[in-house]
Amino acid sequence: MIVEVVGEVVMPKFLAGIIDNGVQTRDIGQIILMTVLMILTALLMMAGGVGGSYFGAKASVNFAADLRRDVYSKVQEFSFANIDRFSTGSLVTRLTNDVTQLQNFTNMLLRMALRAPGMLIGGLIMAILLRPSLALVLLVMLPLLLICMTLFIRKGFPLFNKMQEKIDALNSNVRESVTNARVIKSFVREDFEKKKFAHSNANLKQAGMNAMKVMIFLQPVMMFFMYTTTLLVVWFGGNTVIAGNMQLGDLTAFITYITQILISLMMVSMLFVMSSRAMASSRRIREVLDEKIDLNDDNAANKELQVSEGRVEFRHVDFRYYKNSEDKVLDDITFTIEPGQTVGIIGSTGCGKSTLVSMIPRLYDVDAGEVLVDGVNVKDYSLFHLREGVGMVLQKNVLFAGSVKENLLWGDENATDEMIQNAAAHAQADGFVKSFNKGYDYDLGQGGTNVSGGQKQRLCIARALLKKPKILILDDSTSAVDTATEARIREAFRTELKDSTKIIIAQRISSVMDADEIIVMNEGRITGIGHHEELLKSNKEYQEIYYSQMDKKEATA
Ligand SMILES: Nc1ncnc2c1ncn2[C@@H]1O[C@H](COP(=O)(O)OP(=O)(O)OP(=O)(O)O)[C@@H](O)[C@H]1O
Ligand SMILES: [Mg+2]
Repeated sequence: MIVEVVGEVVMPKFLAGIIDNGVQTRDIGQIILMTVLMILTALLMMAGGVGGSYFGAKASVNFAADLRRDVYSKVQEFSFANIDRFSTGSLVTRLTNDVTQLQNFTNMLLRMALRAPGMLIGGLIMAILLRPSLALVLLVMLPLLLICMTLFIRKGFPLFNKMQEKIDALNSNVRESVTNARVIKSFVREDFEKKKFAHSNANLKQAGMNAMKVMIFLQPVMMFFMYTTTLLVVWFGGNTVIAGNMQLGDLTAFITYITQILISLMMVSMLFVMSSRAMASSRRIREVLDEKIDLNDDNAANKELQVSEGRVEFRHVDFRYYKNSEDKVLDDITFTIEPGQTVGIIGSTGCGKSTLVSMIPRLYDVDAGEVLVDGVNVKDYSLFHLREGVGMVLQKNVLFAGSVKENLLWGDENATDEMIQNAAAHAQADGFVKSFNKGYDYDLGQGGTNVSGGQKQRLCIARALLKKPKILILDDSTSAVDTATEARIREAFRTELKDSTKIIIAQRISSVMDADEIIVMNEGRITGIGHHEELLKSNKEYQEIYYSQMDKKEATA
């Protein structure tokens, strides 16, 4: 870039040399000498330009790759609470569009950051050296131009910010409707979705137009300044040349310098406009990078400790998702589960069952009280060992694109085929997997779309079983499985997972009836713990659930 700038600054001098010492005096030798010099300079400038572009592009591409890597690994570190704070759509935009925006900006910055100021200062110095009196024109025009540019930038900045927000909204919209295309179709909501999309698309278009309008005016206004300045210089300079006080070549060189100065100012203003977009993008990326990971194991007292028995204890646990809200989602929860026990959790929808169990693998941290595993606070384990010891089949579970086997290997990447089959058999999945055309190599569509709901649940259970966890949590994981198959799964748990603690959240009483203990929840509180018979005698909520399900059975029978 330095070569380019120096070339840019000396070129007009050579031109002036040709005109004054060659053309005017009809000296061919001088003309040839200067022409050769100019060609050499141009070649050097070209080499400099290519080099500058190459390294600029290389640097910005690498920068973008690094940035993407950092943002991505930060997102992987996010806790559940962190994920709740950003929408997935906006995270995707930040990772892709915003990074690209910054990449383009760095590329441009690297190309122009030296060149534009270099040309500006070089041009100014040369113009002043050439003819200070004529440079006075600049003294009038430059401040005018600067005021104009500032106005543009101040107007453009917020408009580009707006546009970025609209891109975000559009992306969230697209993500949601594309990933949920099946639901949309089943509710025949295509037209509604189309309208919703059209709305955010129109919003983006409008924001884009508003921002572009500023840009559209910028160019002609700059050109106007350029031509006016040139005209003024030609007028005053021309008179000086006619009066014999200035050489024609010098005037030509002077005009070129003026053009250079104005062009470099234009580049700077372009940089500023682009920087407004880049700033918006960079702020959004920084939001992700600066997001405080509110759940980590930095202060864990015993990072080597592993879950060995499977005892779970809650002591006066309070929790709420929104720290400023009044109602507690978990309110003074206290209970103990001994190793190897099977415990059922039952309660009306939204009463906090899923929230309660998510405290055990520390998906969220308690607000007050303590959660202990094997008598040790979960915060004192490393997250890795804790989650290795606690297998959880989430209520909203997903499989990933890939074969059945690949998905099951998530539980244990070193599992042999035999172990995989065993786990699948215990989860009552072996049978239907074998009936697939490729068996365990059968390709699951994205999110496991080409298996049935109940099959998917059984595959998720098999995946968790492969982990051989000391504590196994099933959050409503057999809701789509028929009762007979479910009974076989429970039987397999009893015989194959004798030593593991099993916590089973269920809607059906029949799923938990034979558990060692059943925890009944209502509105974030435990209203009863005990055997089926005990609860049936003493617990109002349990009775309600039991009889409502019995009624249904009788009715269908
Ligand atoms: N990620 C979240 N952010 C904010 N609030 C949440 C979140 N998850 C759950 N809640 C709220 O916390 C309460 C308890 O939810 P939870 O999922 O624990 O209920 P649940 O007993 O598992 O219900 P279900 O039987 O329907 O699965 C509900 O009022 C719910 O709206
Ligand atoms: Mg739940």
